[in-house]
Order: sequence, then structure tokens, then C-alpha cells
Amino acid sequence: MRAVILEAIGKPPRVADMPEPQPHTGQVVVELKAAALNHRDVWIMQGKYPGIRTGTILGSDGAGIVDGRPVLINPSLNWGDDPRVQGPDYEILGMPRHGTFAERVAIESRQVVDMPGHLTFEQAAALPLAGLTAWRALFTKGQPRHNDRILISGVGGGVALMACQFALAAGYEVWVTSGHDAKIEKACALGARGGVNYRTDDWHKELQKRAGHFDLIIDSAGGAGFGRLATLVAPAGRIVIYGGTLGTIEGLSPQLLFWRQATILGTTMGTSQEFAAMVAFVGKHRLVPVVDSVWSLEEAPGAFERMARGEQFGKIVLKV
Ligand SMILES: NC(=O)c1ccc[n+]([C@@H]2O[C@H](COP(=O)([O-])OP(=O)(O)OC[C@H]3O[C@@H](n4cnc5c(N)ncnc54)[C@H](OP(=O)(O)O)[C@@H]3O)[C@@H](O)[C@H]2O)c1
Repeated sequence: MRAVILEAIGKPPRVADMPEPQPHTGQVVVELKAAALNHRDVWIMQGKYPGIRTGTILGSDGAGIVDGRPVLINPSLNWGDDPRVQGPDYEILGMPRHGTFAERVAIESRQVVDMPGHLTFEQAAALPLAGLTAWRALFTKGQPRHNDRILISGVGGGVALMACQFALAAGYEVWVTSGHDAKIEKACALGARGGVNYRTDDWHKELQKRAGHFDLIIDSAGGAGFGRLATLVAPAGRIVIYGGTLGTIEGLSPQLLFWRQATILGTTMGTSQEFAAMVAFVGKHRLVPVVDSVWSLEEAPGAFERMARGEQFGKIVLKV
């Protein structure tokens, strides 16, 4: 079968012929129709991820067919017994295990759920990893209360935009940041109240002037700008971090945190229960994940480049 593999660290992924998956007991083979990229796939290609094995089929997100039934794959494997934190056997589909950028993948039957009926395969494939991460960040960790105001940084990203869509569907007032004015406009067209470009000077002061402080902030950038982002937290507010794209956090004022009784929470992926709740929410609200662009498997290297350049608004999808 055709598949997208990591041939060598630092090199674009290669489309290759790979052996058919051999399912173990308890596994099914999903006939994939669509898969989606996550920044994780780019980090893996760049060698910035632990436990990398060359020759692995990449990809965590997939939608396809099992026994005539349209399904979604939950890429969060072996979470363990404690809903607060994943256990030592935890892994994410698509490294070191063969992933979804292929015609078929073998996966434990408990990892597949029925696809929401209102979605195409391309839209459904956009959901799993980003949707699960956004769900746990926003609802489980963020614990938004009625009338809370929410800020989502870097809204062009897959997880960020999913968090934005979920928060809007749940009725919250949402503000955003982005490095691209056009992405802020697109988020506003979806229902966000407004936003600022984090590449402008004193963007945090401008946002505070326009919107005030936020009860919940969701971020995946960290880095040198985090201190400014944190000045926007309201008294008793929460900042939820699910990524570290820009590296070590700098300029964070402890006084700001303790005087405002603010909390910083880390989060990663989520449990099977959270995955099921997220998919049910998407079905109930007939939510459609934003798909940036659709590429064929053979075009996968170009899709990786687009993500590495940060051009996308929403999910980059591979049609199998
Ligand atoms: N812990 C977990 O379970 C988990 C799960 C998924 C992702 N992640 C991590 O979260 C990050 C995003 O992942 P993704 O798949 O959503 O990636 P993605 O679709 O490539 O999005 C990355 C986004 O980061 C934003 N960004 C870049 N510089 C920024 C800055 N200075 N301030 C604020 N935002 C900035 C950009 O937003 P704009 O385009 O709007 O400028 C960009 O769209 C990655 O580091 C990834 O590894 C972690």
C-alpha cells in the first residue's frame, strides 16, 4: 500500500510502498479515506520529538471505513487509569507506531468511534488530535464558568481554531491573537469578538484597551511573548498551556500571578471519555472543523511545507 514515511530526520517525508498492516487480536484495519497533519508531524520530521524511529508511517489523525461503517480514530493510546494524567505506557498514534498517512492502518477496536453523520471524511479527519487537545484544554482544564471571557492565542493553528469553535458553540465570548490579520478576520467571521496581531508592538496593551482581561487564556506558543500574554489574565483567571512552539517562557511576573490568584495549567491530549464527549459535542452542535486545504497522499511533502511555514488557517488534510 502507499504511505508517507519518515525516511530520515531533517528530510521531507517520502511517499513509499509499505507492507499491508497485520492486525493483532483486538485490532481492526481501517480503510482510510482522509488523514490530517498536526504540528507534531512537522516536529518529528525536524527531529524535535522523543523516540523517533525512521521508516515509520507518519500521521495521528484519520477517518475511514471498518466493515462498511464510517469511523474516526482516537490517536490517544494507552492513557491508563488516572484521568488526571497519562500513564507510562502512553503513546500517540503515528510515532513510534505506524500512523494514518496510508491506505490502511491497524488499530485497537476500542480506538475507533462512529463518525458524526454531518461530516465528510476530510472534515472528520481534521477532528481527532486537535479536537481532543482543544476539548481537554478548554473544558476539563479551563473549567469555564457562565459569562467567562476567553482568549485563544495563535488562532490559525489546528488546536487553537478547534478551541475557538468549541468555545463559540458553547456560547462564550471569544477573542483571539494571530500573526496574520487575515486569520483574525476569518476567526471573527466564525464568531470571535475581535483580535490583535501578536507581531505588532504592545499588542497586549491594545488588546487590554479593547477587551479588558480574560478569565481563560489558551496558549501553545510560550516563549518570550508569554509574559505579555499573562498580563491579560483576569483575577482568578486560568492560563492553559498545551504547546511550547516558541520555547522557554520568559518575562512572567510572579506578582501578577499571586496577586490575581491566577493559575497556569498544563495539558496534553486526553482520555477516551474526553474523546467521546468531544465527538458527541461536535455531533450535537453540527460543528464543522475548518479545513485549510486538501492534498493527495502523493502531495504530502507540500502539505508538510505549508504547515512548517505556518500559512494555514485550520487543518491541512490528506485525501487517501
Ligand atoms: N500537548 C498536546 O497534547 C498537544 C497537542 C497538539 C499540539 N500541541 C502543540 O501545540 C502547538 C500547536 O500545534 P498545532 O498542531 O495546532 O500547530 P499548527 O496548526 O501548526 O499551529 C501553530 C500555530 O502557532 C501559532 N503561533 C506561532 N507563533 C505564535 C506566537 N508568537 N504567539 C501565539 N501563537 C503563535 C500560529 O498561529 P497564527 O497562524 O494564528 O499566527 C500557528 O498557527 C505545537 O507546538 C504542538 O506541538 C500539543
